[in-house]
Amino acid sequence: MAEKAKTITVKSSGDVFEELAPLFRRYDEEEIALRRDNGDLSLSLRRLDVGEFAETVERFDGSDDAKAALRRALESIEAIGSYAMKGRKRVFVGYNKERKVKNRKQKEGKRGRHFYARGNEFPTENVELPERFVDKIVRADSEEFLRELPDNCVDLVFTSPPYNFGLEYSSNDDDHDWERYFEKLFAIFDECVRVTKHGGRIIVNVQPLFSDYIPSHHLISSHFIKRKMIWKGEILWEKNNYNCKYTAWGSWKSPSNPYLKYTWEFLEVFAKGSLKKEGSADRADITPDEFKKWVVAKWSVAPERDMKKYNHPAMFPEELAARAMKLFSFEGDVVLDPFNGAGTTTVTAKKLNRRFLGVDVSEEYCKTAERRLGEIFL
Ligand SMILES: C[S@@+](CC[C@H](N)C(=O)[O-])C[C@H]1O[C@@H](n2cnc3c(N)ncnc32)[C@H](O)[C@@H]1O
Repeated sequence: MAEKAKTITVKSSGDVFEELAPLFRRYDEEEIALRRDNGDLSLSLRRLDVGEFAETVERFDGSDDAKAALRRALESIEAIGSYAMKGRKRVFVGYNKERKVKNRKQKEGKRGRHFYARGNEFPTENVELPERFVDKIVRADSEEFLRELPDNCVDLVFTSPPYNFGLEYSSNDDDHDWERYFEKLFAIFDECVRVTKHGGRIIVNVQPLFSDYIPSHHLISSHFIKRKMIWKGEILWEKNNYNCKYTAWGSWKSPSNPYLKYTWEFLEVFAKGSLKKEGSADRADITPDEFKKWVVAKWSVAPERDMKKYNHPAMFPEELAARAMKLFSFEGDVVLDPFNGAGTTTVTAKKLNRRFLGVDVSEEYCKTAERRLGEIFL
């Protein structure tokens, strides 16, 4: 027996059935059907391209009563939360049946879901970060320092590497040749992979190096993929500003060599060994509204405005770190930033009740990070 369609009633202030009926005749009964329901209208829904239906509603030219009834119908359809997608259409009945893919695991195996991460040799046993490193700011070269940590002891690495733009960092020489730069960066990221827990995450905030045509976000992602990390996704951080340094147009009004400008950066998100992270629900501190908003992977967050105050040229804002921490880690988790700078990651981790470890090669930035931690009153 065919499953019962989902039915919604639409209040109507006049008898608009006859006027609307031709519009609904263009749809198959298997999509949407219009019926009279005493003085009102009733719609039965099975499978509908809601976007196309919305355009039809928009284009409809009829009486005000009929237009109002159609708009109410669309609102009710859009408000239905539980549906699945089939082709381009939303499925309103048999939801679970439609969603269930037979032999899902087998099919995924055949397709080769995150095939590039197969055959990793990551240890699966996680350990605690040794107490002497918990909630610490460490002045060191991360490549050397991270060797002191055991495997699998960090839940989340959240960081943004030095840009190698020749920015005026306080102590490291930020103007290496690119090959040397990536060699060093990847040595540090390899240590990050090692110390990350099985099921833990690494999130790297990075922007392409526009001036030298170096797609650093791609190069960094490829490196993690070579190291058999699972690419969990990419967040576009919309900063809504133009980088003032790059106001040049390139070849003005000519296709010979126009210069592309960007108002965004990326967060590349990786998982070690498993997409799923262990953790108890009562340690998840993200609200339902935040979750709904932040899983849409375009985050509009203003850039850090206090770089002068902290005397650091390349900070990200606390809001960015907070979103990443709440979406990808639990309270009590250990968060590491191997390029901690003025300490935005560590300050945010403390405020959000995470444990932290921040490393930076610059003594001045480490002092700033310590000072910021001391200024938090929880
Ligand atoms: C883009 S900044 C990070 C800023 C930080 N996210 C913030 O909001 O303050 C990169 C940092 O990496 C540090 N750095 C560069 N090379 C390093 C190394 N080998 N080990 C540790 N830190 C390093 C620099 O001193 C700089 O503070």
